[in-house]
Parts: sequence; structure tokens; C-alpha cells
Amino acid sequence: MAERISPEGLLNELAAPVEALIHRHYENTHPWYPHETTPWSLARNFTEADPWYPEEYPLSDGVRSSIYVNLLTEDNLPYYTETILRQAPKDHPLNEWTRRWTAEEGRHSMAIRDWALATRALNPVLLEDGRMSQMSGGVVPEPTDVVDMLAYTSFQELATQVAHRNTGRKLDKERNGKEVMAKVAGDETLHHAFYRDAAKVALEIDPDTTILAIARNLRHFAMPGIGIPNFRKHALAINREGIYGKTEFLKSVVRPTFAAWALNGIADVDIKTDKAKAAREEIDAIKISLEADSEREIAWRQKKRDKGAHNQQPS
Ligand SMILES: [Fe+2]
Ligand SMILES: [Fe+2]
Repeated sequence: MAERISPEGLLNELAAPVEALIHRHYENTHPWYPHETTPWSLARNFTEADPWYPEEYPLSDGVRSSIYVNLLTEDNLPYYTETILRQAPKDHPLNEWTRRWTAEEGRHSMAIRDWALATRALNPVLLEDGRMSQMSGGVVPEPTDVVDMLAYTSFQELATQVAHRNTGRKLDKERNGKEVMAKVAGDETLHHAFYRDAAKVALEIDPDTTILAIARNLRHFAMPGIGIPNFRKHALAINREGIYGKTEFLKSVVRPTFAAWALNGIADVDIKTDKAKAAREEIDAIKISLEADSEREIAWRQKKRDKGAHNQQPS
């Protein structure tokens, strides 16, 4: 039977498994170089005589919004590092992991930006204005403790992977967009596996605290990017395109993550507090309500496709 332990005790018990997960990451990861994924031969100077214009690389609103939001999200990661490092003492392996993770995330913004500018997929002025605005605001999640951080990142990394992967599927092969997004999505898969399995260890060490953190993050989960100018408008276009919405969150993020955690396999006897028991029930209720949201969303998308209309939210 698992005993409740202090936050420091939990961090100590996480150290060895986290170290093993870092080694697994090093074994599974394949280094790649942004300069190799950028089609430099397509690049030209942006000048007054040769400015950016959307028809040069025709993309739907949703796909262009998705590239923009995905890139600005990657740009903002240094701020995530700051709040994550607060949960990772200097001598803890989570500290080493967070620095490595930050370095890999930096590669994502480099690769997507180089590609987007070389192919002229994005308006460079809008992109830089968006970056300045978002990074000056520095809006990021603020995890309250280490399990809160692990629960959030488990969902966030997989949600980001899905957004990159589904964006790549909408891009053509010739301009290399598929390859860039697939490379980035591949890294996100490994990041998700790290956080998900670290959270699973936390579930074994202290089910009560971890279940509460999972319920809290499931209840409030939103895609990173709230600080991006016109985020809601972009999120709506991305949803309408079928790249990312509640449907993808449920089917490609929530279900596989919970399957890996096997939350229902944790015996009631291991959960000691009524609060944690209620949180487990709340998780089941949120999943049921997501099913209903997804059904409505699928119908809304179909209606939009049929009508070709743009500016309504799912009701
Ligand atoms: Fe990333
Ligand atoms: Fe990531």
C-alpha cells in the first residue's frame, strides 16, 4: 500500500526513475539539424519590390494559423523553462532533463521559422510582431509542484505533437513542410513519453497527490499559446480545419495518456483521501463530457464544410 509522503520525499523517490527516463530518451532520440530541413533554394530577400503576399504559398486560414501558433508556442518555451526549473532542484535529474528539453525545444522554433520564411508560408512582419508581443507578455503555465508540472506537460507535449503532426499532413511534400513538422512532432512524442512515464511513477509513489494533479490539469487544460495575439481567432480556424480541437484532445491526447497511466487499475485501497477518490470520479465525468463536446464539434465542422462559412463557434 502506498504511503503519503512529503513533496521533498516524492522528489527524492522520483530521482532514480527520472534518471532512467533521461537515459531512455538519449537512446531513443535521433539528432537532426534544422539547416537540413530548410529548402534554402526557395528563399529570396524580402524587399519592397518583392514583399510577402499570401497567394505565393496558398494555404487555408486554419493551416496558416496553425503554423503561426505552433511556431510562436515554440518561441515562448524559455519561459516554461523558468517555471519548470522551480520544481527541479539543481542537483535533481529533472534539472538536467529540463535544460536538455529546452535545447530541443529551441531547435523546433529554429526549424519551423527557417522553413516558414524560406517558403514564405508566413507573413514575416506579422510573425515578428506576434513573437515580440507574446514573449514580452511571457504568459506561461505556473505549476504549483512537481506532480502538477508532470501532469500538465504530459498533456501539453502530446497536444503539441498532434498539432504539429496534423499541420504537416496539410502541407505539400515539395516545400518540405511535411518533413519539418514530422521531425518536430517526433521530438514531442519523446517529450510526452518522458513526462507521462514520470507521472506514472509519481502515481505509484503517491496516488492521491498525483490523481488530484491530473484532475486539476485535465479540468483546466488549454493549448499553450494564450498570450499569442488573436489566439482565439486562430484557435477557431485551427479547429475548423480539423487540426486541433476537443476531438483531437480527447482521441489523441486524453485516451492514450490515460491508457498508459492505467488509472482505473489503481485500487481504491491505495487512494486514501476522499478528495482523491472524488478526483478520480471527476476525471471519468470530464472524459464523458469531452465525448459530448467532440460529437458537437464534429457536427459543427461538417456544417462549416457544407456551408463554407467562417466565423461561428461550436455551440
Ligand atoms: Fe516543441
Ligand atoms: Fe516538446
